[in-house]
Amino acid sequence: MFIPESYRRLKRGPQVILPKDIGIIIAYTGVNRNSVCLDAGTGSGWLAVSLARICKQVTSYDLREDFLKIAERNKVIEGLDNLVLKKGDITKKISESGVDLVTLDMPDSQKAIKNAHKALKQEGYICGYLPHMEQVTKFVKELNKYKFRNIATFEVILRDMLVREEGMRPSTKGVWHTAYLVFAQK
Ligand SMILES: C[S@@+](CC[C@H](N)C(=O)[O-])C[C@H]1O[C@@H](n2cnc3c(N)ncnc32)[C@H](O)[C@@H]1O
Repeated sequence: MFIPESYRRLKRGPQVILPKDIGIIIAYTGVNRNSVCLDAGTGSGWLAVSLARICKQVTSYDLREDFLKIAERNKVIEGLDNLVLKKGDITKKISESGVDLVTLDMPDSQKAIKNAHKALKQEGYICGYLPHMEQVTKFVKELNKYKFRNIATFEVILRDMLVREEGMRPSTKGVWHTAYLVFAQK
């Protein structure tokens, strides 16, 4: 899969969210220069950095110091002073409130929905990035418990094309499945 320079320059530790999914998250939630976002887990910080490139403020939580260090390096590479990296469990006590978007990419994301609901402003968006269908089922069940609305679930499939003298066709190689995306509004 083609990775643009704006991502190739970033460090990678744990599995990252790829530009094809990041683009959809930004487009569907409409976040912009006035938006405040809350993210977990930070991992390599690819999503957190992407949000911070365009939003007013982004706070990202991770349990692991070693991953936060990778994300910190990416923050420095991008020269971002509006990205706050916090060591902590997003399912436990958090201090953020009035946020426009909560993004969750971690095991058992559904356990963070209670805190996401508290942190979000009315009409704010939540987005779950969930590799397995079983996670989607649990996530949507919890969203319903907290009366989130406009729930939409899909995956983004990107096909690289081979363009050659003999003809053009989809490549037989590439990253097919990454994760299902679940969007909802408070
Ligand atoms: C796949 S990585 C996230 C990648 C990131 N979205 C990116 O684009 O680079 C998942 C992260 O979730 C973190 N994590 C797991 N449970 C967590 C929790 N309860 N609170 C905060 N972070 C958590 C893990 O330590 C791991 O770094």
